[in-house]
Amino acid sequence: MIVAIDGPAGAGKSTVARRLAERLGYRYLDTGAMYRALTWLAMTRDIDLGAGEKLGALADENPIALDEDGRVWIDDTDVTAAIRKSRIDRVVPVVARHPAVRAIMRARQRELAEVGDAVIEGRDIGTVVCPGADVKVYLNAERQTRAERRLAERPEIGADALATDLRLRDQSDAERMMPADDAIQIDTTELDVEDVVSRIEQLVRERQPA
Ligand code: DC
Repeated sequence: MIVAIDGPAGAGKSTVARRLAERLGYRYLDTGAMYRALTWLAMTRDIDLGAGEKLGALADENPIALDEDGRVWIDDTDVTAAIRKSRIDRVVPVVARHPAVRAIMRARQRELAEVGDAVIEGRDIGTVVCPGADVKVYLNAERQTRAERRLAERPEIGADALATDLRLRDQSDAERMMPADDAIQIDTTELDVEDVVSRIEQLVRERQPA
């Protein structure tokens, strides 16, 4: 079974998807981490983030690996911590926007999805990467709540800068942030993680073959 979890930054996707995968015994695939890792590599190599074809080739030549411990690797380097820095937050939408980059990433994500049961989080999983996913969920939350959650993860930045970053990122991610028509939408503003996970788990159990 494939469970697609989409939604904007700070909606709770990673926490929910990781917990859900644990409960179900499924693999957890974080597609945002793949765009982040590519951004990290491009910055490290001083590649122009506006050069879509070049970045597509870079993605093609340097496959990103997500291991079972949740670590992210590119070009044999463990980038798990480096890709969560605010300097990556700010520019990853610029990299993720290029069609050449998206084509490579989506093909790789589909290959990973084909391996078997997985919870896959991203922006376009239910719409483009896995339109046939068994369960599709679109998580959202009020912007203020999303900003507060991000602040807890990036305390070094400050609330105002973070709110601005989030607004800019929402704008650039917007074209990829449409919920699939058949996605179940959950507003997580007032919900705790375990409640959200339980709701999705129930949807998965209902669709599992007897
Ligand atoms: O979920 P995240 O913040 O780690 O995602 C990082 C960036 O990658 C974000 O700007 C949106 C983009 N992204 C995307 O375009 N498509 C996906 N499937 C996942 C993430």
